[in-house]
This record gives sequence, C-alpha cells and structure tokens, in this order.
Amino acid sequence: METSPSRFKLVILGSAAGGGFPQWNCRCVVCSLAWANDPRVKRRTQASIAVSANGTDWALINCAPEILSQLQATPALHPREGLRHSPLTSVLLTNADIDHVAGLLSLREAQPFTLMATPGVHGVLAGSSAFDVLAPNVVERRPVELGSSFDLVAGIRATIFPVPGKIALYLEAREQAEQGSLTTDREGEQTIGVELTAGERRVLYIPGCAAMTDSLRARLEGADAVLFDGTLWRDDEMIRAGVGTKTGARMGHMSMSGEHGSIEALRNVNVDRKIYVHINNTNPVLVDGSEERITANKAGWEIAQDGMEIAL
Ligand code: MLT
Ligand code: MN
Ligand code: ZN
Repeated sequence: METSPSRFKLVILGSAAGGGFPQWNCRCVVCSLAWANDPRVKRRTQASIAVSANGTDWALINCAPEILSQLQATPALHPREGLRHSPLTSVLLTNADIDHVAGLLSLREAQPFTLMATPGVHGVLAGSSAFDVLAPNVVERRPVELGSSFDLVAGIRATIFPVPGKIALYLEAREQAEQGSLTTDREGEQTIGVELTAGERRVLYIPGCAAMTDSLRARLEGADAVLFDGTLWRDDEMIRAGVGTKTGARMGHMSMSGEHGSIEALRNVNVDRKIYVHINNTNPVLVDGSEERITANKAGWEIAQDGMEIAL
C-alpha cells in the first residue's frame, strides 16, 4: 500500500462474525459451499479493521483470533525497521466478545501499544489472567469513557458511544445467576460504536448493534461510510439453518432484512457508503448472486470482504 499523507485509509482485515467463514465445525448450506471451494463464496476471518491517516501509524479496532494471518496479509502492517517494530500503535475494543479480543493474546512479545476500551470492557479483560501476557510495563490499558473523543492514532479522532447490545457470551451464565435475567439490548459500556474523523472525513464502525435508535440514526446521517452489523439476514436464520436455537435478537444483533432490519432502518439515511461487516457464516448474502445479496446491493449496501480497502 503506498503512503500518501493526510488520507483516511481503512482496511477490513476480517469481515466475518464470531466463528469465521467457513466455521471450523459447520456444514450449514453456506459453509458447505465454502468447504467445496464453490467460486460464489470467499473465505472470511473474524471481524477487525485497521485505520490510518498517514499510512505509517495504524490503529486496530478489535483484535480477532486470526490477527496473525490478517497482519501477514496486509503489507502496511508489517514491521519495517530495526529488529522489532510494528506500525500498530493502538487497539480499540468495541466489546469483550471472543471474536474481538482473542487476538490480543497473539500481540505479546513485548511490543508496546495502547489498548483502549471502556472501563467495563477493561474490567472483563482484567478478570482473565491470560491477558497478562500483555505486560503492563509495555502495553498501556487506557480506559475511554462513553461519549468521549480521543486521539486514536496520528490524525484520527475517535468518539465512542453506546449502542444497544449485550455482554459477551461467556459472561452470560454469571449475569443470569446474579441477576436472574439477561438483557440483550442494553445501552452501556459493554457494546459501543466508534465514530472516526480525519480532517473532513467521517466513518462509523458498528460491528454489533441490537436495534436502531433515533440517536444512532441521526449520528449516521451524512457520514462518508458506515460499516455496520451484518451478522444475520433474518432473525431466525440460525434456527432455520438447523445450527442453533438462538435468534439474532437473543444474540444482540439486528438483522439486515425485515421491517425492523437495518436495510429498512437506514434506507433514508444519507451515507456515501453503507457496508456490512461481521457477517455470520449462515448469512446468504455471503453467496455471490444470491437473492439476498442482490437485494442488499440494490438497497445500496456493500458486503465486506477481507482485505477490502477504503480510502477517503
Ligand atoms: C457475537 O457477535 O454475537 C459474538 O461474537 C458471538 C460469539 O461469541 O460467538
Ligand atoms: Mn461477534
Ligand atoms: Zn455455517
């Protein structure tokens, strides 16, 4: 990737939801196409993006289990000077889900960077001593507050805001035991969206969102690009596919289609590029030429692929 000063660059390192595509143990209709190397589908790693305003310094938003292969596939993120180096200066987390944090375990080796997350998400990581491989004298864990704006990486400001969502899957049993119930669309520190601004450019990254709200819709209006939760095509998709018992709503994800889906919710919101990310392996939009892909494209949505670059 060439470096040109003062341009906002975004690379989609991974575009799949938790499990990746194809998922290691899944033979649903869509995964089966991928296992058979059908040319209508492309493999995808779990969701993460890298952003830079100068082409030299980069930040990650979320850190997928496949971070090593994602970095290897992205020349701009290779080490380039001295014996030990990385262009990554910071990592910002949007929640504590495995698909967004497990890659941190691979960013050890005493490489300095700043790990940014809400106090709530930092609290979850602090409860898992495995993350102590990120030595505190090398990796700074910086809490960032809901509603605040901060320098994410040279030339890019981030503003974080709550979106409806739930706590990570692996925390559910404890929450249910302690509180007797589980909320799947709460707005708080456990699930955030990120607004990125560089010069005149404004991009939003929202890989998980349980429902559209008026304030979120207003925030998206006029953006250069919105990368949004594309987990499921329809709410009961995993049940219909025979691979699970949960609805999208139960998982904290609004679907693309339907009256309350994101296509409808954002139909009249003026955004230059609408791009679905965090796409589950059961989602038929993954299949080139599918009716669902065509419907999404006609409504103005692009379907993210690994390695896709957005330069603004
Ligand atoms: C999600 O986005 O709902 C989670 O990543 C699910 C999971 O952890 O598998
Ligand atoms: Mn996820
Ligand atoms: Zn599958």
